Amino acid sequence: MSDDAILILDGQQYQFPVHEGTEGERAIDIQDLRARTGHITLDPGYGNTGSCQSAITFIDGEQGILRYRGIPIEQFEQAPNFVEVAWLLIFGHLPSPEEYRLFSAQLTANANLDESMKHHFEGFPRSAPPMAILSAMINALSCFHPEYFELEGEDHFRAAAAGLISKIRTIAAYAYRHSVGQPYIYPDPSLRYVPNFLHMLFSQPYAEHECAPEVRDAINLILLLHADHEQNCSTSTVRMVGSSQANLFASCAAGVCALWGPLHGGANVAVLDMLEQIHKGRISPEDYVRLAKDRDSKVRLMGFGHRVYKNFDPRARMLGKVAERLLPILGVKDPLLDIARKLEEIALEDPYFVDRKLYPNVDFYSGIIMRAIGIPTNMFTVMFSIGRLPGWIAHWWEQSQTQGNKIARPRQIYVGPEATDHVPKDERA
Ligand code: ACO
Repeated sequence: MSDDAILILDGQQYQFPVHEGTEGERAIDIQDLRARTGHITLDPGYGNTGSCQSAITFIDGEQGILRYRGIPIEQFEQAPNFVEVAWLLIFGHLPSPEEYRLFSAQLTANANLDESMKHHFEGFPRSAPPMAILSAMINALSCFHPEYFELEGEDHFRAAAAGLISKIRTIAAYAYRHSVGQPYIYPDPSLRYVPNFLHMLFSQPYAEHECAPEVRDAINLILLLHADHEQNCSTSTVRMVGSSQANLFASCAAGVCALWGPLHGGANVAVLDMLEQIHKGRISPEDYVRLAKDRDSKVRLMGFGHRVYKNFDPRARMLGKVAERLLPILGVKDPLLDIARKLEEIALEDPYFVDRKLYPNVDFYSGIIMRAIGIPTNMFTVMFSIGRLPGWIAHWWEQSQTQGNKIARPRQIYVGPEATDHVPKDERA
């Protein structure tokens, strides 16, 4: 049996090679389809389009499997370490003790921002969305590091990646401090990645923030569960921008913008809004679900459904467990957790959700955990960005190292007017 796919168009037969991935996924290679047949494919939303071959993350959405560089996501649950996962995603293997030590040292050494960057924060209104500040400031950061515009070799790239992964925390924390009118807190080199971030977020000049080990682990887990998800909207954006050979910082700034949307990273904020509405008695869980099923309402059950997962999102399972465990430890009794459980229960028994294979996704419980830790709602998507950054960097690097990499440039089917003449202004009706 031939491995080729056969296409018959206008009575003519064409053969196209079929590629197979490590886990048996198959793809018809249509790179020369237009040249040979004059046709293109039409796939709005790219649900059936493989934009690249990638060795970073594997997802089996039917079975609810997620693996980073082959390692099942559940295996990071016991001793969650975001920095280790960042290295794994970017460099393809778990760091040796020495690699880990050196990378951690690079992160620590790079935590500070150029002092004049503080003035940029002052230029934003207090009410500016932190995602807007984050994207703008990542671009601004590149101006302070022109040495990373062109990356020559892996050491140079590692320095740029460490700089970005470290400084994104500081930018995020400063964006928050600016929004609440509090002084910026400098990074503390004695602290690890997550405690240092919480220190910049919550310490006061007169009072150090103490990071409980359970909180440190929960944030490490949240960040690492968000660290990569193959060709999602923001990662595809980073790849698309990077395909024009735009630098790493500019490409990741674009990724932040893509993540901002409520159908992507912004969903974690939308979930909290939805739970709040129900909590405030504006609508019952049953009525909310009813509304989400009504096509005319434009309401969706936020934190439910996924383009790839047609089964439980394994990240949602893990975060659901963390929420149950952490809230009592922190002494938080959050009615929103009960409402979330209720919504989940109703939806999982409703044929509308069952038939469409809509399950809780990563955003369903992450907000409840972050809220219990004291992270303000408008910072939720920023937290997602910090988590997703290593994935963006890994994909940007993978693409830049791929031989024969092309600028991303989809085509279209034009459905506008046929050729028509310009009419001078005074002759128009
Ligand atoms: N609530 C109600 N109905 C839904 C939902 C939902 N959350 N999600 C999908 N559906 C319905 C659609 O209305 C559609 O119904 P139809 O077949 O009768 O037309 C069907 O399920 C398929 O939905 P699509 O929008 O075609 O699925 P798609 O793969 O394009 O969208 C998405 C996936 C955007 C995640 C969608 O499920 C959604 O909007 N969910 C809510 C937002 C959300 O939680 N986003 C976070 C995603 S995870 C992440 O980005 C980290």
